[in-house]
Amino acid sequence: MKNRVSRLAIRIMEKRDIEDVRLLHNDNSVLSLLTDPLHVSEISQEKWFEAISVSRQSKRYVARLLDGDIFVGVFRLDQIDLVNKSVIVGADVIHTYRRAGYATEMFEYFFEYLFLQCGFNRLNLTTLEYNYPARNLYLKLGFQEEGIERLAIFRDGKYQNLVRMSLLATDWMRNP
Ligand SMILES: CC(C)(COP(=O)(O)OP(=O)(O)OC[C@H]1O[C@@H](n2cnc3c(N)ncnc32)[C@H](O)[C@@H]1OP(=O)(O)O)[C@@H](O)C(=O)NCCC(=O)NCCS
Repeated sequence: MKNRVSRLAIRIMEKRDIEDVRLLHNDNSVLSLLTDPLHVSEISQEKWFEAISVSRQSKRYVARLLDGDIFVGVFRLDQIDLVNKSVIVGADVIHTYRRAGYATEMFEYFFEYLFLQCGFNRLNLTTLEYNYPARNLYLKLGFQEEGIERLAIFRDGKYQNLVRMSLLATDWMRNP
């Protein structure tokens, strides 16, 4: 198990976080890389928060700096499948805090939680083929590329490929 000094408080998203989360979602450097690029208003964010707070299929977490409680990013769990023990994961980090290891820290926290506490077998994700920051991050974390969803997403004026990736519990256990 890696023994890093944690710089982040990671916890479930609460109502007091939703404006930070909405502004991050609407930031063009994030929105342009999500599969659904629609902007979210304050009212729709509140309705979404009410729904996701009681959902058994999706969860949202926030990461804040232990030093100063500054919002750093979001971690997503979607399509939580308790029969096949799989879940879709993802993270976004505030622009000014990128390239400082915070996404890595969030993922490492969730690997331990999802594999060791919740017993998941497989973490899934997809990312735009040209999203090299995300693809490099996932490869560095141990995810493997499984294939391409050809021309699955319309972005920047044309259809783009999505890359499917996964991390199995056994992959992670070899080098936790
Ligand atoms: C992808 C993202 C979450 C990475 O967050 P981050 O906190 O900057 O990532 P880390 O600092 O933990 O970086 C870990 C590794 O990822 C890779 N990486 C991260 N940013 C990169 C960049 N701009 N270019 C190339 N590789 C990059 C590197 O391998 C890096 O390791 P290194 O710094 O030792 O070289 C962040 O860039 C982001 O929020 N992007 C916009 C939204 C997005 O793409 N979300 C994912 C959708 S699938």
